[in-house]
Amino acid sequence: MHFTLPLLSLIGSAAAVLECTPKAFSSILSPGAYVVAATSLKNNGTFKVPGPNINFPVAPTDMPPLCALQVQIPTSNSSFFQFGLYLPDAAHWNKRMLTVGNYGLGGGINWLAMGSGTGYGFAAMSTDTGHNSSLLDGTWALGHPQQMIDWGYRSMHMSVVQSKQIIKAYYETNHTYSYYSGCSNGGRQGLKNMQLYPADFDGVLAGCAPWWTTHFESWIVKVGLDNAPGPGQITYPQFSLIEAEVQRQCDTQDGVKDGIVSDPKACNFYMNALLCPTNSTPSATKPTCLSWPQLQTLKKIWTDYIDTNATYVHPTLNMGSEAQWPLLLGGSTPSSLGVDYMRDWLYNNSNWNYTTEYDYSTVQLADGIDPGSSTADKFDLSAFRARGGKLITYHGTADGIVPTGSGPLYHDNVYATMSPHTSSQIGDFFRFFLVPGMQHCANTAPIQQAPWYFAGANQAGVLGTGVWSTPGYKNAQHDILLALIEWTEKGIAPNSVIATLFNEDNPAKGVKKQRPLCVYPQKAMYRGGNVNLATSWVCGTN
Ligand SMILES: *[C@@H]1O[C@H](CO)[C@@H](O)[C@H](O)[C@H]1NC(C)=O
Ligand SMILES: *[C@@H]1O[C@H](CO)[C@@H](O)[C@H](O)[C@H]1NC(C)=O
Ligand SMILES: *[C@@H]1O[C@H](CO)[C@@H](O)[C@H](O)[C@H]1NC(C)=O
Ligand SMILES: *[C@@H]1O[C@H](CO)[C@@H](O)[C@H](O)[C@H]1NC(C)=O
Ligand SMILES: *[C@@H]1O[C@H](CO)[C@@H](O)[C@H](O)[C@H]1NC(C)=O
Ligand SMILES: *[C@@H]1O[C@H](CO)[C@@H](O)[C@H](O)[C@H]1NC(C)=O
Ligand SMILES: *[C@@H]1O[C@H](CO)[C@@H](O)[C@H](O)[C@H]1NC(C)=O
Repeated sequence: MHFTLPLLSLIGSAAAVLECTPKAFSSILSPGAYVVAATSLKNNGTFKVPGPNINFPVAPTDMPPLCALQVQIPTSNSSFFQFGLYLPDAAHWNKRMLTVGNYGLGGGINWLAMGSGTGYGFAAMSTDTGHNSSLLDGTWALGHPQQMIDWGYRSMHMSVVQSKQIIKAYYETNHTYSYYSGCSNGGRQGLKNMQLYPADFDGVLAGCAPWWTTHFESWIVKVGLDNAPGPGQITYPQFSLIEAEVQRQCDTQDGVKDGIVSDPKACNFYMNALLCPTNSTPSATKPTCLSWPQLQTLKKIWTDYIDTNATYVHPTLNMGSEAQWPLLLGGSTPSSLGVDYMRDWLYNNSNWNYTTEYDYSTVQLADGIDPGSSTADKFDLSAFRARGGKLITYHGTADGIVPTGSGPLYHDNVYATMSPHTSSQIGDFFRFFLVPGMQHCANTAPIQQAPWYFAGANQAGVLGTGVWSTPGYKNAQHDILLALIEWTEKGIAPNSVIATLFNEDNPAKGVKKQRPLCVYPQKAMYRGGNVNLATSWVCGTN
């Protein structure tokens, strides 16, 4: 079912001038590019994802009538990438373009998030970043420096430029605005391309971004080594024990006992509450406590990564993120997400051994090389701002994969770089939102039940294959992408966005909780009434 949106007036007029065939498009592509496939879809269509697509195998459904393109472009003699582009029929096109992002070190076209974009009427694009792999697998990069560059930024930029050309030829008119929506590595991709190519996007939505790639990857190895096998290793069943104790101590410390640890940084946590009684050791299968060495490990995990000469390397995981710890901390080795990057990207040495060879010199080497030029650490965004660009970033406080502190850190760096040199604050083009209780990009731990849905990048696909915007609340107050559009096109800046928790994550079963997300450094303050209603909260500072 395809809806029209009051905000996005559909002026659909001219029919598409090109047929949806490879031949029709081939004449308008850049030299070297070719159309792998062009497929027409009828109204309410389902797109069969061309396989194998390890990261994004799920087929989007319920789309408007459109032309689905798959284009391949070489980037060097030893590398190429593909991108997908959905072109809604002219009467369903909102005259805008939306680019969506990827996940982790993986590749693959994100057809599902593109499908969600067509619900709004966007011509929607995603690049495969130049390789196919799962999101934790970086082994493809060994000996392939060109593919690292494609992952870092090149395939994204070339896909945007080529797609704009295709859109112009297909509709015989330019797009009006170009938007970006990505989370996790997708957040990094948005920031990186905005920094390098300010004209690619008019509005950028970047969630939970590991933008400091060199340091994020170092932190993954370091935190994995912190919890290495041995007497201090915290075991899988103990993660939920820690989580429950955090919940017990920290939920009330933010002022309201509502199940949500809204401000983990403000929690004064008494660690010995987790310590085993003297002379007892935790049971391996049903632990009820932590040994003294395990408590020291927990302290390390919860301490930001500081290395030689008190150098700040990277933020660490928040209290309250334990439900997602199994991915990075649940194994006997540091995650391949970090190890592959060091071994195959940085050292280019398949014999590199993290046990004996990881130390601060690794961080320094990474800073020097920055494989694939993927680190998005340019904080002077003057060019993007000068052309009217708007940036919204967000990060969940219960993110157990990309440390929450990455969000405030990027914001504060931009602030420190730009605000002293301009007459206005950075809030006129860049706003950051913390999302209390949200895990990595979406979802909430069962113990917290926090409102996490606000139509952020890739969130619609968690609710369903045909979902777009916030079901029942398709407006800029409840949909952060619509808020970005309203800001970019009408100059109405978002002061808050309401997050929703649906019963069983099923919009058909109704709303369980709603609460405003606030522009950092503001927080949602409780002002009385039902804690599950957005109207019981107001944004402010204490
Ligand atoms: C759209 O397609 C889905 C299957 O993908 C189907 O369940 C639904 O009933 C269809 N809706 C309409 C309005 O035809
Ligand atoms: C491919 O190699 C040829 C011959 O070495 C060179 O002329 C050309 O520029 C290369 N193309 C790319 C895209 O690097
Ligand atoms: C990725 O896999 C697809 C098949 O789904 C294939 O067409 C494409 O060439 C692969 N991409 C790369 C960069 O190898
Ligand atoms: C598209 O925009 C460019 C400038 O950005 C302009 O030169 C061109 O005439 C426009 N084309 C159409 C079809 O509107
Ligand atoms: C740490 O500081 C000392 C004294 O200033 C300096 O000699 C050394 O090179 C520094 N180490 C690193 C890794 O920067
Ligand atoms: C990586 O190592 C291989 C094998 O030692 C070597 O042939 C290649 O040139 C190296 N690549 C880079 C980018 O250093
Ligand atoms: C790495 O080094 C450690 C310590 O010397 C050794 O036990 C381990 O087997 C090595 N790992 C590999 C993959 O060689």
